[in-house]
Amino acid sequence: MSHLIAPSILAADFTNLQRECEMLEQSDADWFHIDVMDGVFVPNISFGMPVIKAIKKHSTKPFDVHLMIIEPEKYINDFKNVGADILTVHYEVCNHLHRTIQEIHSAGMKAGVALNPHTNVSVLEDIIQDVDLVCLMSVNPGFGGQSFIENTYNKVTKLKQIITAKNSKALIEIDGGVTDANARKLLDCGADVLVAGSFVFKSTNPINTIKQLKSV
Ligand code: DX5
Ligand code: ZN
Repeated sequence: MSHLIAPSILAADFTNLQRECEMLEQSDADWFHIDVMDGVFVPNISFGMPVIKAIKKHSTKPFDVHLMIIEPEKYINDFKNVGADILTVHYEVCNHLHRTIQEIHSAGMKAGVALNPHTNVSVLEDIIQDVDLVCLMSVNPGFGGQSFIENTYNKVTKLKQIITAKNSKALIEIDGGVTDANARKLLDCGADVLVAGSFVFKSTNPINTIKQLKSV
């Protein structure tokens, strides 16, 4: 499978969200990456259900919703109802991660788990067969435009070994500080999905930038 590109709309122009959606629709982007922040789990607040529902009207590509919120299990059906296709929760906030994954699947979505930069990938050994996606945070969650943490390469390599050993189908997604300077190396280590916010939306030609990331 060739790798997937998931531009993060956190870096989009919010006064022109419809236009940004149309741009992504025309581009080589595979998914929309949608960052929900609660100001509790992370020191920032982004947007929630009404915004996701609005942009769903202007898009056909899968919605990869990254929840940076505490108690994500309370909102599984709400995110399904506004258009989430993949729902990712943080390992660090789930006391009953296995149950939360089951509930995301029962609601009819793919289930992802995100790990903060300090969380060792080995914590996923007993859940990796049940998840569709692992989102490795390559910055501390909460803000776009931060610089990539180099230790991520080691984490991707280790996680890939776990996935192969356990015969899991989980995709490895990298989130934070992704650019043309680290994309190739991440893919060589085993990454499947690259999230990119600032690198795409702050570039002069986002369509070309997405194409560039797609063809590294
Ligand atoms: C960070 C978010 C990321 C962010 C990526 O908390 O989860 O998805 O939007 O933005 P860049 O690519 O600018 O680091
Ligand atoms: Zn994200």
